[in-house]
Amino acid sequence: MISLVGKVAIVTGGSRGIGAACARLLASAGAKVAIGYRSRDEEAQRLATEITSLGGSVLLQRGSLDTLAANEGLVQATREQFGQVDIFVGNAGVWPPNPLAIEALPADRWRHTMATNVDGMYFGAQAVIPHLPAGGRMIFISSTAGQRGEAGHADYAASKGAMISFVKSLAVELGPRDITVNSIAPGWVDTEAVTIPFADEGRTRIEANIPLRRVASPDDIAGPVLFLASPLARHVTGEILNVNGGSVLCG
Ligand SMILES: NC(=O)c1ccc[n+]([C@@H]2O[C@H](COP(=O)([O-])OP(=O)(O)OC[C@H]3O[C@@H](n4cnc5c(N)ncnc54)[C@H](OP(=O)(O)O)[C@@H]3O)[C@@H](O)[C@H]2O)c1
Repeated sequence: MISLVGKVAIVTGGSRGIGAACARLLASAGAKVAIGYRSRDEEAQRLATEITSLGGSVLLQRGSLDTLAANEGLVQATREQFGQVDIFVGNAGVWPPNPLAIEALPADRWRHTMATNVDGMYFGAQAVIPHLPAGGRMIFISSTAGQRGEAGHADYAASKGAMISFVKSLAVELGPRDITVNSIAPGWVDTEAVTIPFADEGRTRIEANIPLRRVASPDDIAGPVLFLASPLARHVTGEILNVNGGSVLCG
């Protein structure tokens, strides 16, 4: 039912995990997709082959997206190849898995988390907004950590809390241009990023605390992203959509 034929989407961190699921689903709905990723060429190439073999159009752009220049490069490459940008999915992010009390949290980890999650979001928005048309869509992947905090991960929680406020700010700024800005706030999602906490009995313990008793798959996040990218969500903006199996209920 949802068709994105004629639309062009950028997905940052789209080579694997949640971003790859978003890229796949947006492409299957008919969007041309530009994927930004940091360094893992093999995964990115495998996904691009999969999308093109299903008749989709895809562009890959390698490079760390924590500077304005890198984000402008991604937007420019997208416009050169596909002529426009309609949808921006700000997904690239890191979750340093080692829990550390704030007194022990080193400044280089703090700066790395902020550079990837916060600078990346800010520069991505600056790069793409001048090119978004009326009807444009921005969707950022935040986290339950940004809603309720995360002990041992104050850097990550602060970065995602910043994202939630950023989304609400931009929703008001860009509303008059008919551009919506929303966020999906996932709980635990089954990707490589969370291999360590899922090891041993970790996953079972985590699932026991989720009302729906399962962690999300990347596809569980991609579906709501597709909805927010679609005309069905044209009157939804500034929303932080809980996609967490019921583990954190704020709204
Ligand atoms: N997994 C969860 O439980 C969970 C829960 C809530 C929110 N989230 C959020 O969802 C997003 C995706 O998470 P994920 O679990 O799918 O992560 P993932 O499996 O680790 O994948 C991360 C993706 O981001 C890219 N990336 C990382 N740093 C980058 C940078 N500086 N510049 C450009 N690309 C970069 C990676 O590229 P390479 O492949 O080249 O490294 C990869 O494509 C993140 O923002 C994360 O915070 C995840």
